[in-house]
Amino acid sequence: MSPTFHELTVAAVEQLTPSAVALTLAVPEPLREVFAFRPGQHVTVRLDEAERRSYSICSTPADLREHGLLTIGVKRVPGGAFSTRAQELAPGEPLAVLPPLGRFTTELDPARARRYGAIVAGSGVTPVLSLAATALGTEPGSTFTVLCGNRSAAEVMFADALADLKDRFPGRLQLVHVLSREMQPSELLSGRLDADRTTALLKAFELAAVDEWFLCGPLGVVRSAREALAAVGAAGRVHVELFHAEEPPPLAAAVEGGGTVGVRILLDGRSTEFAMERGERVLDAALRHRGELPYACKGGVCSTCRAKVVSGSVEMAANWALEPDELAAGYVLTCQSTPTSDDLALDFDA
Ligand SMILES: Cc1cc2nc3c(=O)[nH]c(=O)nc-3n(C[C@H](O)[C@H](O)[C@H](O)COP(=O)(O)OP(=O)(O)OC[C@H]3O[C@@H](n4cnc5c(N)ncnc54)[C@H](O)[C@@H]3O)c2cc1C
Ligand code: FES
Repeated sequence: MSPTFHELTVAAVEQLTPSAVALTLAVPEPLREVFAFRPGQHVTVRLDEAERRSYSICSTPADLREHGLLTIGVKRVPGGAFSTRAQELAPGEPLAVLPPLGRFTTELDPARARRYGAIVAGSGVTPVLSLAATALGTEPGSTFTVLCGNRSAAEVMFADALADLKDRFPGRLQLVHVLSREMQPSELLSGRLDADRTTALLKAFELAAVDEWFLCGPLGVVRSAREALAAVGAAGRVHVELFHAEEPPPLAAAVEGGGTVGVRILLDGRSTEFAMERGERVLDAALRHRGELPYACKGGVCSTCRAKVVSGSVEMAANWALEPDELAAGYVLTCQSTPTSDDLALDFDA
């Protein structure tokens, strides 16, 4: 079954920084399996019928199993609809939440000893807190290095939780704070996490041999990190999560000729056929026929709208979410896809 929204209750609200809160949600016993997640995944919150926002989970799967709690960290964006409202939420208030999704994660194995690394900035630390806590707790032989960029120490989200984690795993968690608007004792740690500084940090902390990297933050930071990692031969060992594309997706490619396209979609084992205009986004057309289709950002970053092309073809205007292996297997982001064939079949269950 495709995931559906469930009403959860806000159990606690903690002010993390002047502009960020941690919202802890109570997950009742019957829903714990539905909300079971892998570290690094995110949930989607519904604002109204059409508006949804995704938030990475910062707590661990063990917190959910043992205490029925799931925590997200929300940083206020100027003029932002949900991130502003989140600052005023109080315990006891309901929130409509879609169960966890996402591929910004890895398989953990207690028998394995690996080096994990993360390059994050701002609220990008949220999924990495869960990843680091879970990896270090599950794999006694593994280490985790977090390069964490912020403007100032006061703006570091989850600073206490990170420090607690460091106390729990002193020899295996390496925490490196880089501040752009506050001088630190080392010049290397004072400034923006651009490609040059990231390259210098990889060298200074001897990180070229890290087995798996997790990048999460603004597009500029993620791009610089990718560049620096590619230069040390680590490009194939990188997971990326973007929260916001910052650049609007380009308009759909000009479509040759007019007319309609015949589309068939499979969702929850049920097939629906409809005709859509060429040049329209597949998700928008499909939602008119199957309103329960999964989506969140409609901006090509969250991958909630992912489906597999069974026959026909599409062109994506933007893709910030799918990894090369998913593209090779035929997955597309339907919110970004316009058909380039006369007939199209998509499987949302794949
Ligand atoms: C997979 C995923 C995980 C995410 N996890 C987190 C998380 O853990 N913590 C968190 O705080 N946010 C997270 N986000 C971002 C979050 O979903 C929202 O985009 C963000 O909170 C803004 O929502 P809003 O309703 O307040 O702003 P909106 O009303 O949607 O937008 C207001 C204005 O801000 C711009 N804007 C929107 N989002 C951002 C952004 N992230 N940065 C800069 N400008 C923006 C918009 O273009 C618009 O101009 C995640 C996003 C994705 C896709
Ligand atoms: S809805 Fe987020 S990528 Fe399509």
